[in-house]
Order: sequence, then structure tokens, then C-alpha cells
Amino acid sequence: MAEIRFDGKVAIVTGAGGGLGRSHALLLASRGAKVVVNDLGGAADGTGAGKTMAEQVCKEIKDAGGEAVPDYNSVLDGDKIVKTAVDSFGTVDILINNAGILRDISFMKQTDQDWKLVLDVHLNGSRNVTKAAFPVMREKGYGRIIMTTSGAGLYGNFGQTNYSAAKLGIVGLANTLKAEGAKYNVKVNTIAPIAGSRLTAQVMPQNLVDALKPEYVSPLVAYLCSEQCEDTGMIFSVGGGYFSRVAYVEGEGVFLGAEKVSTIEDIQANIDKIKDLSKAAEFTQVMEQSGKILKLMKIM
Ligand code: NAI
Repeated sequence: MAEIRFDGKVAIVTGAGGGLGRSHALLLASRGAKVVVNDLGGAADGTGAGKTMAEQVCKEIKDAGGEAVPDYNSVLDGDKIVKTAVDSFGTVDILINNAGILRDISFMKQTDQDWKLVLDVHLNGSRNVTKAAFPVMREKGYGRIIMTTSGAGLYGNFGQTNYSAAKLGIVGLANTLKAEGAKYNVKVNTIAPIAGSRLTAQVMPQNLVDALKPEYVSPLVAYLCSEQCEDTGMIFSVGGGYFSRVAYVEGEGVFLGAEKVSTIEDIQANIDKIKDLSKAAEFTQVMEQSGKILKLMKIM
């Protein structure tokens, strides 16, 4: 198979000063991409800022013969990050929304600030950088956008209501953006990674942090960023050498008729059939799903 390369392509990787972002940036640069290494350079809880992290990763890329520029803006200032790409390299072809923080705390103890900051960095940050990059991609008829969700968003995790909500919000953003980008060859895919990093060091034992190297995640991300990738709107679970697609499905369900409204007891009598997923199906857009209901009602 021919080597997949990114020569002539400009990539923004947010939160690329460490962990997964650094690994994505190094891999893309090693295959010819010009990379904007964005990182606010603060602490894992979102406080503080600094230039060292982004600068260090740029140095690593350049020392290996690649091209990179640092960017120190918060993802909330997405327009400034995209400006760095356009001013330095003329355009943006690839955007990896990766920056993230954690403020884990049980829901009862969570402050409004813990909620807001986590939603800001993950959800509003991903939205703001994408909002600035999308018109550039649309105009040129090419774009590859990666969103970073989490198993905590997809499945839940104690103490992470803020993070889970933000991460599943990102999936919603991607679900609709895939439709809006389709005509313009802008593909939007999402990863749910697992990797040892500064963030997971807070919750994982050291042997797992060491074993789950971020480098295991980046090849899938790079593939999704490539011209060769034809998929859009997909979610992938990835880490430690494991790769799998994630999707939500809807059961066959039960149609109790529309001539009359069901009773509460009808629901009780049918709850097992309502919950049954043995004949579940996947929908790629909401009209397919509502079409199913309208057909059962014989409206469509
Ligand atoms: P990390 O802490 O090493 O990387 C996150 C980076 O984002 C840091 O370098 C940080 O300085 C930067 N950052 C934070 N706020 C920023 C802001 N406002 N603007 C720009 N940069 C900012 O952690 P890791 O694990 O590499 O996380 C990367 C992404 O992967 C995050 O979105 C995280 O939620 C997600 N993720 C990671 C998992 C894992 O197992 N490591 C699991 C699921 C999701």
C-alpha cells in the first residue's frame, strides 16, 4: 500500500503541547503536514497559561525535519488559532479538536465554575475553532475535522457530569456538521480515545499510564485526516492497539397504534419489547428515524 502523506496540507492540532495532541502533531508532521501546535500551556484543571509546551513540541517537530508553528491561544479564541494557520501557512486543511481539561467532582459538590469551564474548553472550544476553520475548508472544497469525545460522555463516569456532558455535546456538534460539510468534502469524524497522559494520570495507576501510550491512538486520527479517508460522521473507540467503531442504534420498538393514546399500563405490559435491542438499527440522520415513526402511523 502506498504511504499516506500530508505534503502541502496544513493541520491545526489543539492542545498539542502534550499527551494525545502532541502525538497527533508529531505523526502528521512526520508525514509532511505543516502543523500549528496550539496549546494554552496551563494546568490540567484549566488554570494558568504558558508558552513552553507548544514551543517544545514545535522544537521536536523541527528537530525531526518537519514544519510547525506554535500557537498559545485558548481554543475559546478559535479565530486567532485559525489566523495563525492562515498567516503562517496560507490555509487550513485539517483540524484536530483535542484540547481538554478536567475538573472531576461529584455532582453534589460541583461549582458553577467547574461546570462552565469544562463545557467551555471542550464544547465551546471545539465549536469556536471549527467555526473559524469551516469557512476556509468549505471555500476550498476540502477539510478533515476530528472531534475528541470520551467514553465518559458515551457511557458515563462517576464524578464527571461536566466532562461527560461536554464530550457528548461534541458528538452532537459532529452529527450535524457532517451533514453541513458533506457537499464540500469536509469530513467530520470523532474519536473516543484511551491513553496515558497528564489528564489520565489523575485517575489511572502509573502502569496503565505507561502502557497506554498516546502513539497508539494517532494512526487512526491521521487516517481520518487523510485524503484517503472517505468516511464521515463516525465515532471510533481507540487506544492500546484497539480500534472499533461506536454507534448508537435504535431498537425495532413496538407500535401500539395511533388511533388512541396508549395507557400507562400498555407501557408496563410492553416495556420488555420497548427495551429490546435484538433487531436494532442505526440511523445516519434524524429524518430516517422520524420517517420510521411516520410510516408506522401511515402518514408517510
Ligand atoms: P493532556 O492534558 O495531555 O492534553 C490536553 C492539552 O490541552 C494540554 O496540553 C493542555 O494544556 C491543553 N489545553 C487545555 N485547555 C486548553 C485551552 N483552553 N486551549 C488550548 N489548549 C488547552 O490530556 P490528553 O489525555 O492528551 O487529552 C487530550 C484530549 O483527549 C482531551 O480532549 C481529553 O478530554 C481527551 N480524552 C483523553 C482520554 C485519555 O484516556 N487520555 C480519554 C478520553 C478523552
